[in-house]
Amino acid sequence: MNLSINGKTELFGIFGYPVEHSKSPVFQNAAFSHLGINAVYLPFSVKPEDLKNAVEGIKALSIKGVNVTVPHKEEVLKYVDELSEEVRFIGASNTIKNIDGYLIAYNTDAYGFIQGLKELIDDISGKKVLVIGAGGASRAVVYGLVKEGVDKIYISNRTPKRAEEIIKDFSKLSRFTEQILESLPLSNIEKVLKNVDIIVNTTSVGLRDEDRPLFDYSKIEKRHIVVDIIYRKTPLLEAAEEKGCLWQDGLPMLLYQGARSFEIWTGKKAPINIMKKALLE
Ligand code: ATR
Repeated sequence: MNLSINGKTELFGIFGYPVEHSKSPVFQNAAFSHLGINAVYLPFSVKPEDLKNAVEGIKALSIKGVNVTVPHKEEVLKYVDELSEEVRFIGASNTIKNIDGYLIAYNTDAYGFIQGLKELIDDISGKKVLVIGAGGASRAVVYGLVKEGVDKIYISNRTPKRAEEIIKDFSKLSRFTEQILESLPLSNIEKVLKNVDIIVNTTSVGLRDEDRPLFDYSKIEKRHIVVDIIYRKTPLLEAAEEKGCLWQDGLPMLLYQGARSFEIWTGKKAPINIMKKALLE
C-alpha cells in the first residue's frame, strides 16, 4: 500500500472488541489508496464500558467515519445524533458518518447481504426464504429481503420470542410484513424446506466444527440457494456444495457492506474489485 500521511490526512476506522481480526482495515485502505484519497482507516479496540467516550471521541478528534462491530452495534445507537431509517427498524448500526460534529448512524449490512446474494441470483423478489437466527445480523438480513420484495420469510430461532419481536418491530415496514414474516421453531425447519428457495444462516452455529447442526442438512435440495454469513465454509455450506446448490459464505456480505460504508463516507463509488482483491489476499 502506498500511504503518505500528512497534515491533511483524514481519519476513519472501526470500533470493535476484539477488533484485531477485522478484515475491514485492509480493504478500506486499499480503496482510499486506489482512488488517491488522503485518508487512513484504523482498528480501534474499544471496550464496552468505553463506547460512549469513544463515540464522543469521533467528534473531538474529527474522525470522518467509523464502522462499528461486535459487541457495539446496538449500544452505539444511544450515543449518535440521528438514526437512518434502516437503523430504526434493524436496531443496530455498523456505520457512522460524522458531518461537522453531527453523527448519523447507518446500517449497511442489509445492503451488503442483498448485493452478495445478487451474485448468485438476479431477482430476489417473489422468493421464499428461511432465515435462521434472530439477532442483529438476522434483522439486517430480514430488512434487506423485505425491501427486495420477497414473498415469504420464515424466521427460525432457538428462542422464538426474538423472532416474534422482529415481526412486531417490522410490522410498520411494509403493508404486508405481517403476512410475509412467520416465526418457526427450529424443530420445524425440515417441514418448510419444500416451500423455500433460499436458506440463510445468521447464527454462530458452524463457527466451530463440533457445533450441532441446526437441522438435518441431508434434506437440503439442489434447487436451494444457501448462504451462511460466517466467513468460512461451514458444515451447512459443505452440505449445500455436496448437493450441487448455489452457495455463499459471509465474505461477499462483508465486502459489500464495506463498499456501501465507503460510499456513504466519501460520496464516491467504491472500487469494488480493488476491495475484493485486498479482502481475498
Ligand atoms: P448477531 O448480532 O451476530 O446476530 P446475536 O444477537 O448474539 O448476534 O445472535 C446470535 C444468534 O445465534 C441468535 O439467533 C442465537 O439464538 P438465540 O436468540 O436463541 O440465542 C443464535 N445461536 C447462537 N448459538 C446457537 C445455537 N447453539 N443453536 C441455535 N442458535 C444459536
